[in-house]
Amino acid sequence: MAYPSVNGSPRKPWIMNAFAMMAPGHLAPGLWKHPDQQPQTLDHWVQLAKFLDEAGFHGIFFADVLGNYDIYGGNAPALKSGAQIPIQDVSLFISALAYNTKNLSFGVTASTTYENPYALARKFSTLDQLSNGRIGWNIVTSYLESAAKSYGKEKLLEHDERYRMAREFMEVVYKLLEGSWQDGAIETNRETVVFANPAKINKYYKCAGLNLVGSSPQRTPFLLQAGASKAGQDFATTHAEAMFLPGMVPAKTGEIVRSMKNLLVKKGRSRDSVKFIAGIFICVDEMDEKAQAKFQDLMQYADLDGTASLFG
Ligand SMILES: Cc1cc2nc3c(=O)[nH]c(=O)nc-3n(C[C@H](O)[C@H](O)[C@H](O)COP(=O)(O)O)c2cc1C
Repeated sequence: MAYPSVNGSPRKPWIMNAFAMMAPGHLAPGLWKHPDQQPQTLDHWVQLAKFLDEAGFHGIFFADVLGNYDIYGGNAPALKSGAQIPIQDVSLFISALAYNTKNLSFGVTASTTYENPYALARKFSTLDQLSNGRIGWNIVTSYLESAAKSYGKEKLLEHDERYRMAREFMEVVYKLLEGSWQDGAIETNRETVVFANPAKINKYYKCAGLNLVGSSPQRTPFLLQAGASKAGQDFATTHAEAMFLPGMVPAKTGEIVRSMKNLLVKKGRSRDSVKFIAGIFICVDEMDEKAQAKFQDLMQYADLDGTASLFG
């Protein structure tokens, strides 16, 4: 379908993607105190998913972290403001959200630094089957020292080392997802299961199994990524189908998009093979004044210490 051009540039349809977290404060710590704030029950998330589905959104994406923010002022600012804590395991909600929606897709964040590729392949294949191909994986390498300590590590792995580990993780996961089962293996001929023996000589992962779950509609979930450092862009231009970007400073967003497109071409991929999704905050109402009033109402609940804990 052709879209009309604007000032000579081709216009593309927007991807509408809701950005959420199963925590009382995602990027707006303190907002849990707002009288309209719903308790984060399964029913709440099902209602939200249905609302977005009916409104024609393409997806809802769930951010996730595996530790608490404790650099700025210890634990207290994050705990008091609900800054990304407490946080539930979103993957356990997806079946209910998928069952109650038709077209909405789901982005689930999972970390290559702490997950195990064999277990994660099983989880995403299951989610892909039960959502009928509506699952995406936001691949993160995780940045919180507290997560490293909670997962029994002495310290957080160095930034580029985390990306090297992520590359190897992907090799193993692709073999499990794409190479374990031939299409139709389960219904027709069990002999056509392919034994995958990925990564015998890998440094971080050894996995001699085949994916416990048979092939799913997408096999590999839709892959999303957000890291914009040199290592992050290198990873994204190899694996990602969509990239999340901070969208509050358009010039900076544009810089990353241009750099990504150049890198894609260098790697032999098309400039448009990655979709870019910029994060913006939109406050709407019937009239500007009402929208402004709504924004001011939200602002009075902002917890600056909680926000500082996220920056920390
Ligand atoms: C829009 C957006 C969403 C992100 N969501 C998550 C997330 O859910 N969990 C996480 O651990 N990191 C998340 N990140 C952080 C990135 O994965 C990455 O660590 C960060 O952008 C720094 O990139 P770099 O490591 O390439 O420097 C997000 C980043 C952006 C811009």
